[in-house]
This record gives sequence, C-alpha cells and structure tokens, in this order.
Amino acid sequence: MDKFLIKGGTPLHGKIAISGAKNSALPCLAATLLSAKTVTLHNVPYVRDLITQRRLLEDLGATTLTPDVHTHKITAAHIESFEAPYELVKTMRASVLALGPLLGRFGKAKVSLPGGCAIGTRPIDLHLRAFEKLGAVVSLESGDVVAKAPKGRLVGSELDFEKVTVTGTENVMMAAVLAEGTTVIHNAACEPEIPDLADLLNKMGAKVSGAGTPKITIEGVEALGEAEHWIIPDRIETGTFIVAAAITNGELEITSCRPDHLGAVIDMLREVGVEIDQPDPTTLHVRNSNAGLRSKDITTEPYPLFPTDMQAQYMALMTQAEGTSVVTETIFENRFMHASELIRMGADIEIHGNQATVKGKVRLKGAPVLASDLRASASLVLAGLCAEGETLIDRVYHIDRGYETIVRKISSIGGNIERLKDHMSTAAPETSG
Ligand code: EPZ
Repeated sequence: MDKFLIKGGTPLHGKIAISGAKNSALPCLAATLLSAKTVTLHNVPYVRDLITQRRLLEDLGATTLTPDVHTHKITAAHIESFEAPYELVKTMRASVLALGPLLGRFGKAKVSLPGGCAIGTRPIDLHLRAFEKLGAVVSLESGDVVAKAPKGRLVGSELDFEKVTVTGTENVMMAAVLAEGTTVIHNAACEPEIPDLADLLNKMGAKVSGAGTPKITIEGVEALGEAEHWIIPDRIETGTFIVAAAITNGELEITSCRPDHLGAVIDMLREVGVEIDQPDPTTLHVRNSNAGLRSKDITTEPYPLFPTDMQAQYMALMTQAEGTSVVTETIFENRFMHASELIRMGADIEIHGNQATVKGKVRLKGAPVLASDLRASASLVLAGLCAEGETLIDRVYHIDRGYETIVRKISSIGGNIERLKDHMSTAAPETSG
C-alpha cells in the first residue's frame, strides 16, 4: 500500500484550485442510469471512488466515454444487468446509489447490502423503507437487497425520513422521477449535493422542486433524455485546504470553489481566528490572524450546520489553538479514529463517548501513523504538514478515494510531501489532466 512521507513545518503559500465534489459526482453518475440517451458530466473529480462508480455503470451495460479525466459521457441505452455485486459494493458503499435509478427505470434492482465501514454501521434501512413507500417489494436474499416494482413501475407517494440521510434522499429522488404520480419527501437532506443532483435530473427532463429544502416534490414523468451538467466544487476539499493554510500558518488563494456551500465551516474558522476573505463568488483568500488561533467547541449536524466530514480536519486544527475545545460528533458512531493517531503525534485529546476534548497549543511531532477513513486521513496529512519532523502515513488509499492528486496539489503550494509507491497499488495516478 502506498504511503505519504511528509516533512512538516513549512507554511503553505500559493493558489489551489478545487476539484469537483465526490459526493455530488457519485449520485450524478448513478442518475445517468435513468436515461437511454447520453448524459455528459463535467468537473468529475479524478478520484478512486468515481473510477469505481464508472466501472459499476459499465458492468451494468452502460457505455462510458471519458474525453478527459474530468468529463464523463455516459449512455445507459443497453442495460443488461440490474445487479451491483458484493465485490464492488464492499469497496464503495456509494454503489447503493444504483438502487434508486435501476428500480425507477426498470422496476428491479439487486444490490449487495453494503457492510459497515470504519466510521460506523452505515445501515440503509431508511432507503429501503422509502422504496417500499413507493410501492417496491424489498427483500434480503443472501446478503443482497432485492427490490421489485410489482407492476413494473413505482407509484408516487408521500414519505417522511425519520432521520436526515444524504444518499437516502438521493436514492429516493432517483427512484421517484419516473414513478407514476407525485412523490413528496419530508425531512429530506439539504446538503448542496442534493440540489446539484436535482439540477441534473431536471436537465434530463425530470420535474423536481424544493431540492435543498427539507421538502422535495417530484412529479413522475414517462422518460428522461440527454443532458450536460457541471458538478459543483467539493466543499469538503475546500474546507480541508482552508485548514491547511491555517494549521501551517500559511496563506492560500483557493479558487474554483463555492464558499456559499460551506458557510458554517467558514463562520467557525473565522471565529477561531482564521482570516478568510472572499474576493469573488468562487474564490477564498485564507491566512491566520496575527492573534493566533482560539479554541471553540463544535458539534456536527446535518447541513447547513457544521458537517461531519470536516470534524477530523477541525480537530487537527484545534491541537494548535489557545485553550481547550470539545468536538461533538452526532452523525456517525465511530468517527474519532484520527484522534488516536493524532495522539501518537503528541496531541492531547480525550475521548468520552461522542465527545473529544482537545487541549490546544501542543507541539506536534512527526510519527508513523495509520489512515483509517477518508477524512481521518486528511486530518493526518494536515497534522503532518504542521508537525516538527517526518510523518509517515500508511494506507493512503483511503485518501485517494476522495482527494484528487493531493500530493501534487500540496507540493504546488510548498508542502513537503511525497508518495512512497507500493507497486501493487491501484491509486488514481497523480497525473490527472
Ligand atoms: C453521505 O453519506 C456522505 N457520502 C458522507 O461522506 C457524509 O459523511 C454523510 O452523507 C453525512 O453528511 C456520500 O454522499 C457518498 P447519511 P451517507 O445517510 O448518505 C444513518 C465522505 O467522507 N442512517 O446521511 O451514507 C447513518 O448511519 C463520506 O465523503 C441510517 O440509520 O450518510 C448516519 O448515522 C463519509 N439509516 C446518519 O443516518 C439509513 O438508511 C447519516 O447518514 C441511512 C442513514
């Protein structure tokens, strides 16, 4: 497995362009299954999860062309299979996003029940119950979810998610766009990836309204057609680079981003002393205030509040702030794995249930550490860039899933990081277009 070797202590300076959002590209790629015509997606991030998602579409029978690594032309005219196998689903939970479109367009789908992952059990019970509300018959057969629309077509209905679920909302939206009649989703997720998916679906001919609010209304149509769509920038990559500037006491210009998609993160980072200016709608200018960083408590919540995907990066930053902060994780049951690795680097963090108490102003020292999940890996990279000495991060395939050419990007702004390649690895190369 590849490793990252990071020599810390150099402030990052320069300009960094944000890639397309992994968590928007994944449902948007799945949505191409809803049409027999060509759907062109631009600004798709060149990361492992999207390579996997594209392979899934090909396994199902779709034709995929990539004129460049960020552009995918998908034509799902001849779908021959309606199954997402375990071998694939176990490598990427987001394959469950094939359920909604396959069920919505073909009235049948069989997807391996995704296992849990490092951050939690990650059930999909809410997805399945929502499909049943739309008239599907859902059963579990030897580890596979088997879903069928008895009359061949789902029937619109009113449903209310008992918990906010991002991919659950996306799955139901994709199942409902071709259903007979109208579907109303209450307590829908409001993350920016939801309106982005709705934009694509409406370009394809769907009738989705209210996306981005807790109530989404979908009028079923007979068929969807072709479309062209640009994936929104990745708000979590943006937040990660804001923290990178702050934790290394550097100064960055972050371009091609959408600051309006990470308001809670920007507000909180300004409160702890990061100077963040927005010279134009897609650019941020970031540096530490001379007064240094102050500790502030955070609690992760669904959008528009502080996102769980920024919790690990924020925790790394709080090791450098004046005072003590309490980080409360309310979304996933096991999302503090980065804490034990940060402690190996000298951080002073105590975990009690879903709360981590972080003592600030600690000198981090480089050490060999282990990545456990995508965002935990990001926090170890940030800590390594700040620490004195060398940090060796193992299992960096986790980070390759969701950060495009991160070594190239960090090196381009002065970070001392190199990838120690394990020649068996299948990481997306660092040479995207
Ligand atoms: C999406 O995961 C993101 N992934 C996650 O990003 C993100 O952390 C998460 O939303 C929360 O924002 C993608 O979009 C591909 P949920 P998702 O369904 O949809 C429980 C990253 O780092 N739940 O909103 O799987 C669930 O256990 C990844 O990019 C049920 O109980 O998350 C969790 O506690 C990590 N039953 C909570 O709801 C269900 O059927 C929120 O999960 C579904 C979810």
